[in-house]
Amino acid sequence: MKVFSLKSDLISYLGPERSNGMKIGFVPTMGALHEGHLALIRASKKEADCTVCSIFVNPTQFNNRKDFLKYPVSLSEDMDILKIEGCNAVYAPGEDDLYDPPGVNTVKFNFGKVETILEGKYRPEHFNGVALIVTKLFNIVQPHFTYFGQKDLQQYFIVRQLIHDLCYNIQLRLIPTVREKDGLAQSSRNRRIPENVRPEAALFYKSLITGRDMLHKGSTVNETKEYIKDMIEGHPGLQLEYFEVVDTEKFTLTDQINNKNNTALCIAGYINNIRLIDNIMYI
Ligand code: PAF
Repeated sequence: MKVFSLKSDLISYLGPERSNGMKIGFVPTMGALHEGHLALIRASKKEADCTVCSIFVNPTQFNNRKDFLKYPVSLSEDMDILKIEGCNAVYAPGEDDLYDPPGVNTVKFNFGKVETILEGKYRPEHFNGVALIVTKLFNIVQPHFTYFGQKDLQQYFIVRQLIHDLCYNIQLRLIPTVREKDGLAQSSRNRRIPENVRPEAALFYKSLITGRDMLHKGSTVNETKEYIKDMIEGHPGLQLEYFEVVDTEKFTLTDQINNKNNTALCIAGYINNIRLIDNIMYI
């Protein structure tokens, strides 16, 4: 496995691979790898000839500086995992290889209404930072395929729009969320959940399942939202930020299920000040 910290070296390595007809699969990550990331790497290994993974905790997508500073970092374990998975190349740059000069970030993206709901509403500037780094990485790696996890469904939608609007010739793949035995969605942030409250973290997933059952049995979206709010807030260590039903066609909030195949239930909340998000499809 080749490891690069400079984009110029990665570009020099990938040029001949591309000219030799190799299909490049790209998995962007912020490290602290878990089974969810491995599912993305494995999907790329199946489809592409050369799998590239980036590890970079992107400062511009954190609206909360404390959250950025606390983001788990485990670079050497990550490298070991990627080697075992047969990843071909890792790009793990310092901030100055991607932001020069660091801290200056002038290009702004505008994704319209989708930026004003869910993660966009509660994490101002988050998607601008995601779009900025993803654009830089796409331009450096120039992949044929890229893999994103369903856990960050709104991010997937933003990247889909980015690929469309900027005419990237990249096939975007959505890979299902990988879960712990009790249903908790795998996330790098899970490492920060203290043992004693860990069982309660699964309630976010359980409330999605409960909400879906209620909707299937005929409760309205508003009744379901009320019920889930009480369910989460009945637990002293948990706080609900949002529970919403989303039409995934245009990624808008809805209070009616119009298109069962394109409807998702999305949740975000806190356990012990650690922010978790999750979602499931209506069907
Ligand atoms: O999903 C993530 O880990 C990040 O948002 C991404 C896509 C690697 C961009 O920093």
